Amino acid sequence: MADELIISVSENKEDRYKTLIPQIESLIADETDLIANLSNIVAALKQTMNFFWVGFYIVKQDQLVLGPFQGPIACTRINFGKGVCGTSWKEKKIIVVPDVEEFPGHIACSSASKSEIVLPAFKNDEVLLVLDVDSDELNDFDRTDEENLSVIMKIVEGILKRVNC
Ligand code: SME
Repeated sequence: MADELIISVSENKEDRYKTLIPQIESLIADETDLIANLSNIVAALKQTMNFFWVGFYIVKQDQLVLGPFQGPIACTRINFGKGVCGTSWKEKKIIVVPDVEEFPGHIACSSASKSEIVLPAFKNDEVLLVLDVDSDELNDFDRTDEENLSVIMKIVEGILKRVNC
C-alpha cells in the first residue's frame, strides 16, 4: 500500500480520477476488512476530488445504514426506496441529481448540498451498499464522474466478493 496518496493537481477531473484509481487498487489489495477498505476509499476520494460529502451507506436488513464517510455529519438510516440513496437501492441503478430541490423525497442531511450522485454496488445481483457523493454546487456531476465512480464501484464489488457478507 502507498504511504501517501499522490494527488493530481490538474484542473481536469478526468486526470485526477486517472491518478487516483490505480492507487485505490493498491490501497485495498492486501486488506480484506470491508470497513477498513471503504474508509480508505472515501478518504482518498475526498482528498483527491475535494467533494463536499462522500460516503457509503450499507444495506442492513431493510435499511441503509451510514458507513465510512468524509464530510459533515449525516443521516444514519435511510429506508428502502426513500431519498436518492434508497431509490438507487430500490431501482438498482446510478442516480444523478443536478438539483436536489427537484428530486421528490430527497433527504437533506445538510442544507448546503445542492447536487448529488449515488451508485449501487452489487453481489449476486443484490445491492449491498451505495456510494453517495454530494456537492455544494448545482449540477456538479457529469459523465466523467459517473464513469470513473463506476470503475471505483467495480473495485468495491471486488472487495465484497472477498468478504463474508
Ligand atoms: N441526500 C441523500 C441522503 C444522504 S446525505 O446526502 C449524506 C438522499 O436523499 O438519499
